[in-house]
Amino acid sequence: MATIAAGCDHGGFSLKTLLIEHLTERGHDVLDLGTYTNERVDYPDFAETVAKSVASGEASFGLLVCGSGIGVCMVANKIAGIRAATIHDVTSAHLSREHNDANIICLGERLIGPEVAKEALDIFLKSEFQEGRHLQRVEKINKIL
Ligand code: RB5
Repeated sequence: MATIAAGCDHGGFSLKTLLIEHLTERGHDVLDLGTYTNERVDYPDFAETVAKSVASGEASFGLLVCGSGIGVCMVANKIAGIRAATIHDVTSAHLSREHNDANIICLGERLIGPEVAKEALDIFLKSEFQEGRHLQRVEKINKIL
């Protein structure tokens, strides 16, 4: 089971809460890095904290939720070593792992239903990077500062 750093803004608070419960039930260790209420906050603060937790190796994967899944993804991808992907369905969930070795899944609470979100998260965590022809491409991503 993996250690997963989770974070959100007010727009993603309900879905993050539900997904943390789901991950815990499945035996994962979750580091809940906030936000912890519905009060309005700025998503960059939480996305940066989660991304740094993954980049440092404290967590194996990250889960970020905001209203659209877009803002948190933009922030996370500014941190070296992070490959964050905004995911809307199970297909993009497994492709982001298999082809891009994504290490943070970003979801939009206002765009994705809770059941699809749970399934996409499960598939993201189960899928493995396929390496092969994808390896040199990911290495090229990693070299861009
Ligand atoms: C907050 O209203 C909203 O802008 C935020 O959750 C996110 O969707 C930004 O990308």
